[in-house]
Amino acid sequence: MNSNLNKDFELNNKGTSNAGDTRSLARHRWYFYKEGFSPALVNKAIEESDISENDIVLDPFNGSGTVTLTAAMRGINSLGFEVNPFTSFLSQVKATNFTEKNFRKVSDLIMMNSEKGGISHLENYSTFTENNHRGKNKWLFNKDVLQAFAGGYNNLGHSNKSSKLAKLALVSAIMKNSNAKKDGKCLRYKNNWENLNYDKTSFLESLQDNLNIIEQDLENKVETKPIIKTGDSRKLVKKLDFKFKLCITSPPYLNTFDYTDIYRPELFLSGFINSSEELRSLRYKTVRSHVQVNWNKPKINDFGIHFNEVFKKISDKKDLLMHKNIPDMISAYFEDMQAIFMDLKQKADKGASLWFVVSTSAYANEHIPVDLILADIATKVGWKLKEIGVLREILKRKTRFSPDIDKLRESVIILNN
Ligand SMILES: C[S@@+](CC[C@H](N)C(=O)[O-])C[C@H]1O[C@@H](n2cnc3c(N)ncnc32)[C@H](O)[C@@H]1O
Repeated sequence: MNSNLNKDFELNNKGTSNAGDTRSLARHRWYFYKEGFSPALVNKAIEESDISENDIVLDPFNGSGTVTLTAAMRGINSLGFEVNPFTSFLSQVKATNFTEKNFRKVSDLIMMNSEKGGISHLENYSTFTENNHRGKNKWLFNKDVLQAFAGGYNNLGHSNKSSKLAKLALVSAIMKNSNAKKDGKCLRYKNNWENLNYDKTSFLESLQDNLNIIEQDLENKVETKPIIKTGDSRKLVKKLDFKFKLCITSPPYLNTFDYTDIYRPELFLSGFINSSEELRSLRYKTVRSHVQVNWNKPKINDFGIHFNEVFKKISDKKDLLMHKNIPDMISAYFEDMQAIFMDLKQKADKGASLWFVVSTSAYANEHIPVDLILADIATKVGWKLKEIGVLREILKRKTRFSPDIDKLRESVIILNN
């Protein structure tokens, strides 16, 4: 075990590696993003670094924008990269100031138009609504709900700032009225979903709730507007034309979770993706942490002692693999992470720090100490390891493939330049 693994880390068991507290925080609460971490973690990293007025905080896996919003509300410059256009949009909207007058105008308009209803191109498409022709027996949205959404959405006028805010409120409202909910790696139909009877009325109530919350939060202004770019950070970090002082981030975990799949409804509803081909090409831009597409084969297969030990055991147990490409995915993941650590090192200011939040994982009944492996990789490319702070132990459902593993660990690897 690595002596830098700090189980007494001061943030251990303080809830900072999950997004629970964002449900009640101004602006963060405009859309609950289950996979996010807490602004408290970002605040801690900011307080421990000596950031001055001209410095920039970077997050190359910005997700819902917890880093950029937290920094922005404190008046600190920040830059986020995010490959998923819906989550990138979400982070931009949350970090924009709106005037109350414009907001009221647009919110009255969408309430009125949602009340009237409209036609959505997603009606009868795939599993979006009940579709008798294709014999689908489960659907994400009752037609009433999708039509009320479409009434508001089709009349947004997509150009001005307030219409983006209204679009977010609409997507949030329809997702609250979906027959399925996010459950780990997949969308799962809610218990008794056929009898939940979501309809226009329940949609309009959710929309009104969202608009009320947004209105309450508008006075919590963003002090410094962040820059947020939509794209693949494996390309974007290389192009940075400044050095950062603090990077705080949480990449996809090595858990076969595909963000483009779990956020598929939002991607289609908000018009960022319009076909399965577009979705597929977005998938290819994501970090190789899942098996949904046929990635390029990894070229590197040696990431230090912690990796080599566990990788051999997993590769030898083919029968216990949930998918034949898991070994390649594991190597490819660490290859991507190595490239990111190298690129970040090039762009780090003297004395800069990097906070990297990850979870361990399990395949073929082997626990993969992802935090220790990443610390090995980062130090190999020149970062100095300060510590690996344990954030929490996660209880894990035992599975057929890993029957003995019931715990994973979430940690923050803290590195200095
Ligand atoms: C763990 S989440 C980050 C959550 C974030 N800390 C928050 O609080 O919202 C990881 C993010 O990395 C994004 N991602 C995956 N591959 C990427 C890539 N190649 N470039 C940029 N972002 C990527 C995913 O879409 C996801 O939003």
